[in-house]
Amino acid sequence: MRRLSQRKALTLVRELDAFPKVSESHVETSASGGTVSLIAFGAMALLAFFEFFVYRDTWMKYEYEVDNDYSSKLRINIDITAAMKCQHVGADILDLAETMITSNGLQYEPVIFDLNPQQRMWQRMLLLIQNRLREEHALQEVLYKSVLKGGPTALPPRSVTSCKQALFCFILYANIVQPVRCVADKQLKPLNACWVHGHVYVNKVAGNLHVTVGKPIHHPQGHAHIAAFVSHDTYNFSHRIDHLSFGEEIPGIINPLDGTEKITYNHNQMF
Ligand SMILES: *[C@@H]1O[C@H](CO)[C@@H](O)[C@H](O)[C@H]1NC(C)=O
Repeated sequence: MRRLSQRKALTLVRELDAFPKVSESHVETSASGGTVSLIAFGAMALLAFFEFFVYRDTWMKYEYEVDNDYSSKLRINIDITAAMKCQHVGADILDLAETMITSNGLQYEPVIFDLNPQQRMWQRMLLLIQNRLREEHALQEVLYKSVLKGGPTALPPRSVTSCKQALFCFILYANIVQPVRCVADKQLKPLNACWVHGHVYVNKVAGNLHVTVGKPIHHPQGHAHIAAFVSHDTYNFSHRIDHLSFGEEIPGIINPLDGTEKITYNHNQMF
């Protein structure tokens, strides 16, 4: 009696089926049904394949929000070339609270103001992109993505040296012995400009960044630039801004002033 009920229970479990079955007439195979299945499987494979590419793609999502972290510092990235010797230029930041941010983070390096052909070409391209960007904002997205994929961003190295032995050579230029940087085409030019680059951290208040004649000094009444010993004839406020941005540097983002070049033939002109 007990064995019988056990067997019964076993068959019950074996035949238990929670899912409704398709009736026999519907599982018959046919050529047209097979074709539909094949097409469906093909479409699924194709969709899965493209879905993978969508997944790999990068999307830009813009979000703006109020920065309420006013105690932290803001980073300013600077890369400016001024057409004056380094000992004559000083760059600093003066903010609303009259706190002078001494430009410790900035480096001054003597360079040649004129760009070499390679750099000139790059700068023209940058300006072209800059002009296009003003009309087509979506271009920034394309640029950003191309950089993610490893495209070029920065200017090619500032001086291409061909002198195998030395970076700096000395020549007699304008009757004074001056250091010159050897350029690719064996053209010797004096280092007539100053490349000011680096980054500074400032308070998040209104202020101004200026690059002018003389090194900045801070005294109780304010702040001044010592320019007494700089001859007026050496004043040349021509400059080139290769990069000027706020916050962390993001490759592929072209900032509004990047690539600007201002040349003046007047010693007194300021920008
Ligand atoms: C300033 O420097 C630039 C570039 O070297 C030059 O073209 C320009 O004539 C200079 N201006 C003055 C006033 O010396």
